[in-house]
Amino acid sequence: MAKVKKASAKKGKAKKARAKSKTRKKVKRRTKSKTSDAKIKPGTRGKGEVPPATAESMAAKQRAISISEFFAKNRHLLGFDNPRKALLNAVKEAVDNSLDACEEAHILPDLLINIKPIVDTCGSPGDSAVRRPQADLRRANRFVLTVRDNGPGIVKQQIPNIFARLLYGSKFHSLKMSRGQQGIGISAAGMYGLLTTGEPVQIISRTNPKKNAHHYHVQIDTTKNRPEVVLDEECDFELPTGTSVTITLEGKYQRGRQSVDEYIAQTAMANPHATIIYNAPDDNLYKYPRQSKELPFIPREVKPHPYGVELGLLLKMARDSSAKQLSAFLKNEFSRISPRVARRICEKAKLRGTLRPSKMSLRQAEALHAAINETKIMAPSTDCIGPIGAAQLEEGLRAVVKADFYTACSRSPAVYRGNPFLIEAALAYGVKDNSDSNPDKEQLIRLTRIANRVPLLYQQSACAIYKSVLDVNWRNYALSQSRGALPTGPVLLMVHIASVWVPFTSESKEAIAHYPEIIKEIHLAVQDCGRKLGLYLRRRKRIQQELAKRSYIETYLPYIGEALQDILVLKQRQVGTVITKLKKVLEKSRKV
Ligand SMILES: Nc1ncnc2c1ncn2[C@@H]1O[C@H](COP(=O)(O)OP(=O)(O)O)[C@@H](O)[C@H]1O
Ligand SMILES: [Mg+2]
Repeated sequence: MAKVKKASAKKGKAKKARAKSKTRKKVKRRTKSKTSDAKIKPGTRGKGEVPPATAESMAAKQRAISISEFFAKNRHLLGFDNPRKALLNAVKEAVDNSLDACEEAHILPDLLINIKPIVDTCGSPGDSAVRRPQADLRRANRFVLTVRDNGPGIVKQQIPNIFARLLYGSKFHSLKMSRGQQGIGISAAGMYGLLTTGEPVQIISRTNPKKNAHHYHVQIDTTKNRPEVVLDEECDFELPTGTSVTITLEGKYQRGRQSVDEYIAQTAMANPHATIIYNAPDDNLYKYPRQSKELPFIPREVKPHPYGVELGLLLKMARDSSAKQLSAFLKNEFSRISPRVARRICEKAKLRGTLRPSKMSLRQAEALHAAINETKIMAPSTDCIGPIGAAQLEEGLRAVVKADFYTACSRSPAVYRGNPFLIEAALAYGVKDNSDSNPDKEQLIRLTRIANRVPLLYQQSACAIYKSVLDVNWRNYALSQSRGALPTGPVLLMVHIASVWVPFTSESKEAIAHYPEIIKEIHLAVQDCGRKLGLYLRRRKRIQQELAKRSYIETYLPYIGEALQDILVLKQRQVGTVITKLKKVLEKSRKV
């Protein structure tokens, strides 16, 4: 019986299993048919059928993209992503160039910045646009920006390429501290102006006081990344030498944080050797006279420091080098390599000093790379980067903000990827903020970021400076701080990075990249200021507590006098003397 029962149970199980597998297959078939549908006929649910692309049809569309076409589409990468920022960026590029040019020519800069709102009102049909100042500035969306400098001027033949060709400049191939780097600044601003208003860039430049100035109107041909000259004539210019650039562009003017006004005020603070006159769109005239008649530190061009040079770059440099021997290559191409250091590196890498660099193999480059990083090499020279200086930073801060306590720190140079850089920080505590924010609410500290004397106003949270300041434990320095936020308190913290090559996160030059070496140095500079702040705040607290105790004692002393008079049966005259003595003893024991 038991056997029969078992056999029937087995049969039942087999049946069930078969049924299950059948349904599973059905489901599979159903899903299969769905996916195969999707594969075969994409887009057939629409109106027309899209023919499938072939390698040949795709080949017909494949072509090179010019750099200006790329940036015209991706203008946000250059910082022209909204009208307010676009206006600021155009001013920034022109001002940076003017300051750079004046300093390179050892001229104390005199800058004139003019921004005028315009409105196009069409007259009778066929009339060209009539321009008049716009009464309501909030509605103005087009501006004429002019920046004039007393620099050395620009050679006639170079003007079209400089202002209407991306990636054309004098600073990219040299390791030298300057505001501009990539050769993509003023030409990008000009391109943005052309794309948004159709107007060419207007330039007047004079290089020789005895000759006339050149007047150009140029615009970029974005498909070729080449300039087109619209106007070329001689004209008068009010200065012996200098350049005036005019760009008409779409923009928005708004006062306050991250405005053109703030950028110019901070630029004046970081460049006390420049006179800046700024005629704002609202017709306010701001004058920032020169604070110091001394030119700032004039940086020297340097070669890369060997620490941090990547293997691939080292191999490329060796293969491109015209040096006949490895030791000569090391001496000529890098800074801080003396014949003795070169010999030591070659010994460590087990390579002959006479090896021909152009014939170097990858293995040999690897050995050389490792040997460089194991050899003690002098830190990069300071004369290629110009610190503002701790004393000057503190003075600068005192000039712009009223506060109770100031401190500053200037670190010695360090290296990231072979590029020398230097970090400085300055801090003011007890800043009297005249903004209309709620005074009872604890405000986050204000962080001012400066790179090669240029204020950075956007993308704070993406910047290495912000990250480093966030990572400092401010509670150690008597400031309160929530997790993942800046500390709170009436503090203005300024961090300056000076480098022969500032590593920005994008072409818009708004935030510093997160190199560990840079983060470490910022951390150390900020910690130094923090420690001094902590000392000051703790001392201030101690003084406050002591003063509170003293006033407490002073309140009760007369009563003690009365009690003593009763107990010791003293005369009124004696009570006065006893109280004075008691006060002196108590004050002596509580030193402030
Ligand atoms: N106002 C000026 N005076 C003299 N030279 C200038 C001026 N503006 C620009 N230049 C020259 O034009 C070049 C290109 O400028 P730009 O496109 O802003 O790139 P970058 O400043 O990054 O080199 C500069 O490298 C500089 O040689
Ligand atoms: Mg520039």
